[in-house]
Amino acid sequence: MAIEPHVKLSIRSLDHNFGSFQALNQVSLDIGNGEFVCILGASGCGKSTLFNAVSGLLRPTSGEILLDGQDIAARPGQVGYMLQKDLLLPWRTVLGNITLGASLTRGATRADRERAAELARHYGLGEFLRHYPRALSGGMRQRVALMRTIAAGREVMLLDEPFGALDSQTRIGMQQWLLEIWKEMKRTVMFVTHDVDEAIFLADRVVVMLPRPGRIGWIIDVTIPRPRAMDCLTSETFVEIKRRIMEMLYSQATLHGVPGAMTVPA
Ligand SMILES: Nc1ncnc2c1ncn2[C@@H]1O[C@H](COP(=O)(O)OP(=O)(O)OP(=O)(O)O)[C@@H](O)[C@H]1O
Ligand SMILES: [Mg+2]
Repeated sequence: MAIEPHVKLSIRSLDHNFGSFQALNQVSLDIGNGEFVCILGASGCGKSTLFNAVSGLLRPTSGEILLDGQDIAARPGQVGYMLQKDLLLPWRTVLGNITLGASLTRGATRADRERAAELARHYGLGEFLRHYPRALSGGMRQRVALMRTIAAGREVMLLDEPFGALDSQTRIGMQQWLLEIWKEMKRTVMFVTHDVDEAIFLADRVVVMLPRPGRIGWIIDVTIPRPRAMDCLTSETFVEIKRRIMEMLYSQATLHGVPGAMTVPA
């Protein structure tokens, strides 16, 4: 099937079953070149499963995943992926962790190390290149893990709750840092979060997924102009978009009988 020229990643009618459990049901989404898409949804609705499929780590039961029109299903390494639990290797320095991708695929060259060091310096990790992860704060470690994903050099990056474990102040700093990188490097980003404010602040579009079976419920355009500063969090448009999303999430939560909470399917 033909692909629109501005579409970078096309996910088409994706289904995935774990045995008799339907984790993804007819998930279809076209993502534009350079677009930032955030995915919200209750625990267990299939967000990480979707990322595992798009990254090629998991072969979907059926459906297509096209990158620039080429089928990448079950072909790892085509997109950058920061997993939900992305751990740094404790025995490698910050620089060693950032160049891990190259080390694993073909051996890191001097040029890889120089490029990684330059990237790290540019984005405020320069002083820590020779440090080991244990000497870094949680926020710094997440920056290194994110930098590793960026250093892999893929045009599309999947980030699964990259700031999940951070306090809100550090988180805000990281969001701004990520938007800067995204703008400078013109990457296409899919970003999973449970934080509605974070989703709206970062995204061009917010995709709300629903559980049992995991599927796309709604897609909301975020019409807030860029560059965005923190004061946009209290703007009328922001509050209106947040209200709509909260209503969607809340209607789903009450639908399952537990106001404000969602149960994970067994
Ligand atoms: N390897 C697996 N085998 C069987 N079931 C699985 C497997 N991986 C995931 N599941 C199930 O598929 C569903 C979706 O899981 P997934 O990890 O994609 O959810 P999620 O939306 O990322 O949740 P969270 O927000 O908690 O990270 C869950 O019900 C989970 O139990
Ligand atoms: Mg997950």
